[in-house]
Amino acid sequence: MRAEISAKDFSAGSSGGAIPTVTLKQLEADPHGVFRAYRKQYPVVLHETGGYFVLRFSDVDRLSKDPRFRPSGTSFPEMQGFSSGTMFDAFDHGMLTADGDVHRRRRAPFSRLFAARAITEMRPSIRRTAEDLIEDWYGVGEVNFFDEFAAKMPARVIADLLGLPREDIPEFTLLVYEVTKVFSLGLSPDEIVEIEKAGQRLREYVDKVLDERRRSPREDFLSTFLAAATEGGEMSPEEMLYQIFALIVGGTDTTRVAIAMQLALLLQHRDQWAEVCRDPALVSGAVAEAMRFEPSVGAVARVTSEDVDVGGTVIPAGQLVMLSTMSAMRDEMTYDRPDTFDIHRTNQPRLHPIFGYGAHRCIGEAIARAELEESLSAITARMPRLNLDVAPKINGHFGIRRIDAMRVSWKP
Ligand code: HEM
Repeated sequence: MRAEISAKDFSAGSSGGAIPTVTLKQLEADPHGVFRAYRKQYPVVLHETGGYFVLRFSDVDRLSKDPRFRPSGTSFPEMQGFSSGTMFDAFDHGMLTADGDVHRRRRAPFSRLFAARAITEMRPSIRRTAEDLIEDWYGVGEVNFFDEFAAKMPARVIADLLGLPREDIPEFTLLVYEVTKVFSLGLSPDEIVEIEKAGQRLREYVDKVLDERRRSPREDFLSTFLAAATEGGEMSPEEMLYQIFALIVGGTDTTRVAIAMQLALLLQHRDQWAEVCRDPALVSGAVAEAMRFEPSVGAVARVTSEDVDVGGTVIPAGQLVMLSTMSAMRDEMTYDRPDTFDIHRTNQPRLHPIFGYGAHRCIGEAIARAELEESLSAITARMPRLNLDVAPKINGHFGIRRIDAMRVSWKP
């Protein structure tokens, strides 16, 4: 079914041109169809819950590096109904929403740990984590893949990387899955209360872990980070806490959805699945194509510092703007046959748009790629005759997208 342009409400942009307003209901039903229908005619649409969505690849790519598009600070939580409290503070003190020197200061202590070379050295242990997880349920012949692999893999990797005890995984992952709902648009008052409660508990958890390391330092990343950050005197205790909070949140849910989606897409395209099973050299292309076709993150948020003309539509200063990487990666002006899943695609941009651009480009990109590639390599090597019994339905069009369930089976 193809989505048609049917927005009733057209608002006048400052340029005098009409900007359609897309509804949450339309986008929840068929996000790709809605983006496709609007993208041809309109470079920008308004979202009924607030904010502008930029839809075309060329604009998303260009504007992500445009200094007039500033990090969103606390605009996003405020728009969602969080005017104070832990969730507000997480945005206020985090690196994602900070600008200029403040951003550099908050991100710098992590650059070396997350650099591609350091992560390459971790690949064998990431691969072992994938193999251990498969071993846990291989003999059973069927599994809830989303819970038993896709969720556990990134949680174990981030726990090992930061030095968090593996016994803590059930506690912090449940909190993270609640906290990341902040990135869904159109939250109810009850949801806002639940997200804030989870945010407070996650903050308490991180506070407790950091406090333990302050009292008895170990040979691990958190102790080294605390010592360097305290000695440098450039980060307040609040900032230290919220950077670790951000890494746990950023490293857990995005990759969970991506691991599930890439396997589901390949199992739904059996010929390509068989090719990857036969030739492991195809794994990285398959991972890149899955992230393009059904990304786990839908858009990046920015705020305009002055009026900006986007393809004839003027977005006024001070507006929240979603640069829709999800729409951009299906733009027919950039990608040949954008709605076809093709692991042999040769026209992927050098930098994958899914990880954003510029100073805020995902600090966890190398880890995410290592997890996605090692997961797929381990699964294709061990279970080439895998069946998709319950296909996941992916929802959402902004922030971290959501999956309901996914089951697979095989003959051990
Ligand atoms: C498939 C998995 C992932 C996707 C799709 C993803 C996507 C993104 C995107 C689009 C941004 C930039 C947002 C912006 O410019 O506003 C970002 C930033 C960030 N990501 Fe990821 N991410 C993933 C995995 C991870 C992992 C594994 C970690 C941590 C271990 C992580 C931690 C972060 C952090 C801390 C930032 C903020 C960076 C900054 O502002 O300087 N992400 N991510």
